[in-house]
Amino acid sequence: MAIQLHLGDITELNVDAIVNAANPTLLGGGGVDGAIHRAAGPELKAFCRTLGGCATGQAKHSPGFALPARWVIHTVGPIWQGGDQNEARQLAHCYQNSLVLAEEIGANSIAFPCISTGIYGYPADRAARIALDVMQAWTARMQLTVCCFRESDLSHYRARLADGRRAGQ
Ligand code: APR
Repeated sequence: MAIQLHLGDITELNVDAIVNAANPTLLGGGGVDGAIHRAAGPELKAFCRTLGGCATGQAKHSPGFALPARWVIHTVGPIWQGGDQNEARQLAHCYQNSLVLAEEIGANSIAFPCISTGIYGYPADRAARIALDVMQAWTARMQLTVCCFRESDLSHYRARLADGRRAGQ
């Protein structure tokens, strides 16, 4: 199955699991995290209190509560510090660990936001390459969507996917 690109609000997507770009407390924040908590309702924060936080690169799941998605997979992206602090590896771990967890809980479809590219400052084009590198290995197992909130992010993904097609991937 081809990776789907979507421009819009991830909280509206009717998929089995949406991924949240959270912080280590898992207790909410701004950006996509804030939007997910608002749309899911207060039960999400109450549930997340029981999860005991999450380390960078790891993932934990919760119900979606009032969201159309059945589950939320919370992952914590790296804060961009210039690129020599293991950020690329940690970002790849976010995608990989979210996908492993999605498979464990039985999700057949999953939507990712552009993790770390907002408040955490990761350069969007580099992040798109890492996200697609990990996701490409999962296309036979799950329906994958990248949910971009900004047109510019969508352009990065379109360009990367077109490069891949030209290279015969
Ligand atoms: N749907 C989809 N994507 C969204 C939405 C939304 N409703 N709102 C924002 N985004 C996009 C941003 O445009 C960006 O591309 O999500 C991407 C990630 O940005 P952030 O939400 O700022 O996440 P991140 O950079 O990983 O920073 C995480 O932000 O709010 C806090 O608690 C969170 O402290 C953590 C930090």
